[in-house]
Amino acid sequence: MKTSCQRQPSIPIILAIILFSISCANSDQVNLDMFFRCLPINSSPFYPVSQAIYTPNNASFLSVLNSYIINRRFLTSATPKPLAIIAAKHISHIQATVICAQRYGLEIRIRSGGHDYEGLSFVSNNPFLVLDMFNFRAIDIDIASETAWVQAGATLGEVYYRIAEKSKVHAFPAGVCPTVGTGGHFSGGGYGNLMRKYGLSVDNIIDAQIVIVNGSILDRKSMGEDVFWAIRGGGGASFGVILSWRIKLVQVPSMVTVFNVKRTLEQNATDVVYRWQHVADKLPKELFIRAMPQTVNGSHKGKKTVQISFIGHYLGKSESLIPLMNVRFPDLRLQQDDCSEMTWIESTLFWAYFPPGTPTSALLVRPSKADFSFKSKSDYVKEPIPKTGLESMWKLLIKIGEGGWMQWNPYGGRMSEIPESETPFPHRAGNIFKIQYSVQWVEEGTEATNDYLKLSRTLYEVMRPYVSKSPREAFLNYKDLDIGIASSSKNRAILINSARVYGSKYFKGNLDRLMHVKTSIDPNNFFKNEQSIPPGP
Ligand SMILES: Cc1cc2nc3c(=O)[nH]c(=O)nc-3n(C[C@H](O)[C@H](O)[C@H](O)COP(=O)(O)OP(=O)(O)OC[C@H]3O[C@@H](n4cnc5c(N)ncnc54)[C@H](O)[C@@H]3O)c2cc1C
Ligand SMILES: *[C@@H]1O[C@H](CO)[C@@H](O)[C@H](O)[C@H]1NC(C)=O
Ligand SMILES: *[C@@H]1O[C@H](CO)[C@@H](O)[C@H](O)[C@H]1NC(C)=O
Ligand SMILES: *[C@@H]1O[C@H](CO)[C@@H](O)[C@H](O)[C@H]1NC(C)=O
Ligand SMILES: *[C@@H]1O[C@H](CO)[C@@H](O)[C@H](O)[C@H]1NC(C)=O
Repeated sequence: MKTSCQRQPSIPIILAIILFSISCANSDQVNLDMFFRCLPINSSPFYPVSQAIYTPNNASFLSVLNSYIINRRFLTSATPKPLAIIAAKHISHIQATVICAQRYGLEIRIRSGGHDYEGLSFVSNNPFLVLDMFNFRAIDIDIASETAWVQAGATLGEVYYRIAEKSKVHAFPAGVCPTVGTGGHFSGGGYGNLMRKYGLSVDNIIDAQIVIVNGSILDRKSMGEDVFWAIRGGGGASFGVILSWRIKLVQVPSMVTVFNVKRTLEQNATDVVYRWQHVADKLPKELFIRAMPQTVNGSHKGKKTVQISFIGHYLGKSESLIPLMNVRFPDLRLQQDDCSEMTWIESTLFWAYFPPGTPTSALLVRPSKADFSFKSKSDYVKEPIPKTGLESMWKLLIKIGEGGWMQWNPYGGRMSEIPESETPFPHRAGNIFKIQYSVQWVEEGTEATNDYLKLSRTLYEVMRPYVSKSPREAFLNYKDLDIGIASSSKNRAILINSARVYGSKYFKGNLDRLMHVKTSIDPNNFFKNEQSIPPGP
């Protein structure tokens, strides 16, 4: 470790440091060797586990590691690297990884789609292994029962594509980014533009398979309702390795309507979005209108402004949407020309910003190399933000520049009907909308990173008066280490107190039940990360 020593250390100190690091490295190496010997013994002889192991000695180690890192913030030489990646090809490889890592005291990180906002699925400050799920991507759709089994390494785009292959009038409520993995997304809640009609992904999951700490595979029946409750919104990574989900498909019309209407500050965007706050959560469930403020170049050279995109998804045709908008939200002045009718699967391409006419096979493309860095945060809004508040926000967005944007996602509808304790995700009735803040940059180096991280924290501070309080709620899928991290103390009370800081924001009153479930299924806290659920008191 390099510290800010002012003086050259004397020779004995250097020696001591060298000896210390050799002995450290040695015990890690011994454990790792034992781990590698343990793996084949616990894996199926018909599926050699050696074909799933990548260490830094394998030529493709870095490309396998980096292929599911979508944020350049975690693609630097300083980013801690795993001792090895186990890219499981058979269930027994997953079971063996859990059993052997535990036996030899190695930490694991579980990765499905790799979209974790803080990189927790592939970064740790302790020596660690990555258990990679990208080979577990089977999707089995059964239209007759309107259900599907989906493996954890499948992406949302793959789920959507496979559903549409079988039916034009079925869908699944989940996120708009096709490369997100179902392993992390569903276990953290999972929302998208069907949320006001059908709730979250977790509200439509009916079974799951999980590998628990002793290596056993459990389903809903054998894990019990408490564990099944916990993994639907409490984050999978605290409880075990999710293998697959059984989802309930939902029905959509054969044609849906989408639009993206943009207004700048000069075009009265502030008035329109102010009104949006009063109607977006009260509109019919079939209509979801996201507001997305972002910094753009203004019409005068060198002058920036804020543009708000109102992106709509309507489960119906434009001929009924236009009159509805004229009555409920005339301020947007939605015209027939703004609207496009398409199948639901085409609407998933529209929401992912693919140009019109892109073939649906684009949904199957896995992530490409990250070419920018970002930091995100979240908030919940329960009272409309006054115009003065909006204006102070715009000022800061303009200061952040073109990489500054927000997503405002309306709640209400089905979201308000589901009790807070139904799943670990507690943000239900009483929320008008959720904000995602994002600061994005292309400059490399720690200085730029620190500058942009600081701007994202300033924006979060400016918003404090306008958002939920005690706790200031946050969305688990928008993981943010600024809101608290788990203590590394062995003292249970200290660990629990540290978890209450972030846990109350993500889970509110559901945190105690989550810790109770954790105690029953992983009492020694093998499955852990910087913001996991510790065993309870
Ligand atoms: C571009 C982008 C767009 C997004 N859009 C949306 C959106 O529209 N709606 C929304 O709700 N969220 C959205 N998110 C957030 C996303 O849902 C979360 O980041 C989610 O956790 C990602 O899942 P993953 O499998 O890709 O990530 P990973 O990084 O693989 O995992 C995330 C977390 O889950 C754990 N985990 C992963 N797989 C398993 C498993 N099989 N078993 C147990 N634990 C596991 C990991 O250890 C980690 O803690 C978006 C994120 C990005 C980057
Ligand atoms: C990585 O290298 C080891 C040692 O050469 C080899 O046994 C293993 O099969 C390699 N991994 C893969 C996935 O090829
Ligand atoms: C693992 O734990 C589960 C749940 O406690 C139990 O049902 C199962 O028998 C255990 N399996 C083994 C191999 O010990
Ligand atoms: C903005 O509002 C003003 C005052 O109500 C109005 O005169 C003007 O036409 C509006 N501009 C646009 C682009 O809607
Ligand atoms: C905005 O303007 C800047 C120069 O002021 C330019 O570098 C940038 O490319 C412009 N952005 C867009 C999206 O046109």
